Amino acid sequence: MSVRIAPSVLSADFSALGNDVRMVADAGADWIHVDVMDGRFVPNISIGLPVVAALARISPLPLDVHLMIVEPEKYVDAFVEAGAASVSVHVEATDHLHRLVHRIRHAGARPGVAINPATPLDTLADIAPDLDIVILMTVNPGFGGQTFIERSYDRLRRLRDLLDRTGSAATITVDGGVDPARAEAVVEAGGDVLVAGAAVFATPDPAGAIAALRTAGQR
Ligand code: DX5
Ligand code: ZN
Repeated sequence: MSVRIAPSVLSADFSALGNDVRMVADAGADWIHVDVMDGRFVPNISIGLPVVAALARISPLPLDVHLMIVEPEKYVDAFVEAGAASVSVHVEATDHLHRLVHRIRHAGARPGVAINPATPLDTLADIAPDLDIVILMTVNPGFGGQTFIERSYDRLRRLRDLLDRTGSAATITVDGGVDPARAEAVVEAGGDVLVAGAAVFATPDPAGAIAALRTAGQR
């Protein structure tokens, strides 16, 4: 399976979100990554249900919703209802991950789990076979445009081993600080999906950035 590119609209122009989504779709992106932040799980507030619903109406690409919120169990059904194709919750944000993952699937979306840079990967071992997606955070979540944490390459390799060992078919989404210069190494270490916010939207040539990510990721 070739690498997939998921631009994060966190760094898009919020006054012209529809245009930016269509632009990256035309440029060959695969998923639209939507970062939902509540100001509690992470120290920033971004966007929520109405924006996801609006994006779902116009996006030609599946919406990959990343919930950085406390008490995700209160909201997952609503995000699926709003049009999310996949919904990922943080392993750190719930005591009942198994129930929540199955609830997301039952609601009709692909379930994912996101994991912060300091959380031991082993916490995923018993849920991995039930997941469609693992989002490996390669920055501390909360903001776009941060620097990729170098130790993440080792975590990526260990996560790939864990998924193989547990018979999980989940894809690994690498989220935070990914740019064309890192794409090859990230894919080589086990990444399947590259999230890129600043590297796509904070450049003068987003389409060129998507092409560069794909080329580097396919080497
Ligand atoms: C971080 C978010 C990421 C972020 C990626 O809290 O989950 O999706 O927006 O943005 P860049 O690529 O700019 O690090
Ligand atoms: Zn994200």
